[in-house]
Amino acid sequence: MYNCGFIKFKKIRDKYGALTPIESKYDLPFEIKRVYYITEVEKNVTRGFHSHRKLHQILLCLNGTVKICVKNSKEEEIYELNDSSVGLYIGPLIWREMFDFSEGAVLLVLASEYYDESDYIRNYDFYLEEANKLFKE
Ligand code: TYD
Repeated sequence: MYNCGFIKFKKIRDKYGALTPIESKYDLPFEIKRVYYITEVEKNVTRGFHSHRKLHQILLCLNGTVKICVKNSKEEEIYELNDSSVGLYIGPLIWREMFDFSEGAVLLVLASEYYDESDYIRNYDFYLEEANKLFKE
């Protein structure tokens, strides 16, 4: 989908377990400025409900599974994160909703910018206005 899609990272397995390295310069389309993670999400909770104006992010589910519904003004898709070495890249002006967190799910987010509330679009109608402009260009 436009501005959104899976990125597969390396998974180095040995008899001691598995390790996934992620280096901005080699593995990502942006430099990481911020990392945060979401835990303890109860069943039937959906979160997100926003888009960003400039932020690029990669979402990785390090434990368990989670589904991400992404939308723009023309397309909508549901991605399931169920492998800790497969991230979902979400670029600017993509609406996202995260749901179906499994018990103990850990959602890690790598972000291109520091936290900035003014970069959020939290109202879906305002979002559609912005996204429509983008697709008319
Ligand atoms: P929010 O982005 O609304 O979470 P989600 O989209 O996953 O539902 O953030 C929840 C709260 O955490 C909100 O009060 C803002 C705060 N927050 C920070 O302080 N720093 C951050 O880097 C992020 C992502 C959120």
